[in-house]
Amino acid sequence: MTVKIRAIRGFRDIPPEEAFRLQDIEVRARKHFERYGYHEIRLPVVEATELFARAIGETTDIVEKEMYTFADRNGQSITLRPEGTASAVRAYLQGGWKSRGGITKIYYSGPMFRYERPQKGRYRQFYQMGLEALGGGGPLVDAEVIELLHRLFELLEINDIRILVNSLGCGECRPSFRGELMEFLERTSDELCSVCKKRIKANPLRVLDCKVPSCIEALKDSPVMLDFLCPDCETHFDRVTEALNGLEVRYEVDPRIVRGLDYYNRTAFEAVCERLGAQNAVAAGGRYDGLASELGGDVPGIGFAIGMERLNQIVDWENRTISPPDYYIAAATPGARVPALNIAGILRGYGYCVEIDLEDRSLKAQLRSANKFNIRSVVIMGDEELERGVLKLKDFDNKTQVELSMDELIQNAANRSRSSKGDA
Ligand code: HAM
Repeated sequence: MTVKIRAIRGFRDIPPEEAFRLQDIEVRARKHFERYGYHEIRLPVVEATELFARAIGETTDIVEKEMYTFADRNGQSITLRPEGTASAVRAYLQGGWKSRGGITKIYYSGPMFRYERPQKGRYRQFYQMGLEALGGGGPLVDAEVIELLHRLFELLEINDIRILVNSLGCGECRPSFRGELMEFLERTSDELCSVCKKRIKANPLRVLDCKVPSCIEALKDSPVMLDFLCPDCETHFDRVTEALNGLEVRYEVDPRIVRGLDYYNRTAFEAVCERLGAQNAVAAGGRYDGLASELGGDVPGIGFAIGMERLNQIVDWENRTISPPDYYIAAATPGARVPALNIAGILRGYGYCVEIDLEDRSLKAQLRSANKFNIRSVVIMGDEELERGVLKLKDFDNKTQVELSMDELIQNAANRSRSSKGDA
């Protein structure tokens, strides 16, 4: 007996209804990003493993245990991208785009891969839309990026997302915070979970992000980065929040936001929605001025990525579903099959969605299908109509049936197409 092949764990099919919604969100998001001057970049799905190890950080969960890493046929270690930022910066440096001057604004959309424990809202292949502003180090860039994200949620009519903002300082001020935090964690280590205990030395900041209730309790009086910012980082953060206030962006300062990737400095943020349950982050990002130097270059940057499955889950889709085709073309006799296909092609040429029977079924069965698809306009043609050069057009909305010449039907369709284009 042949064994049935199923998708591998953590990988799933996105059925047409869900793909339709994702596409709808994506189209809106693309237009929105473009209004702010971002342009699409298509990045490779596979990169040299070293890119992620250097950019994301050797001691992060992603690099330590979540990457899909393989040796290719030449023995080179390659990795399915777990995120897009590292590739975007690599592309910027490789393309020498600094010479263009100004801020390079790019966005990307596509699958990412992480070997995480699958659960609701967490997959091993998931989709992100992300954007990066490269070449601008000032606080207004941060404010615009966060504002853009906030307005996208507004555009999608989601109003229960909280945007949490923090500053992670810089190479000047973070070491003293890190030292203080490590001391605190060592003092409280008995109350921490086993994962946090291990992280105290390797990556103490990540401990602040632990979701285990006993750790949250133990960390409630821990030192926070905001109290250790150097004057430059403090001014930067103040200017970001001032601008966000001026732009009337709803956000909260949350000193516990630390992010799971090592490349961040200064502004870091997460957008969370309680409706998502345990995996409540729908988007996240921040500034990463030091990332490029890990890759042998130098460019400040900031960006974010949205988890598309999660975003799709919280959009209210009540009135947005796949619409039925505009026309059903029914052939009443065998001789009308090919002419019917012809008419379908002409109407499709005018931009209409047309359904037609391809299985030689009876007229009754065809009309049943039209009804099942909820198609409101049905064109019926048989030998007799063909001879007279006419068609029957049944309109289920107006409950009418008229006889038209082919030219009239096509003219009718062309007029409708023009007026609907005019409405768009
Ligand atoms: P991240 O926080 O790792 O950041 O991922 C961003 C978003 O991707 C998350 O908030 C979540 O919505 C979604 N996501 C992450 N992992 C999964 C998963 N296993 N299943 C489903 N959704 C997931 C980054 O990736 C950074 N590159 C963001 C960034 C861009 N920072 C600066 N620029």
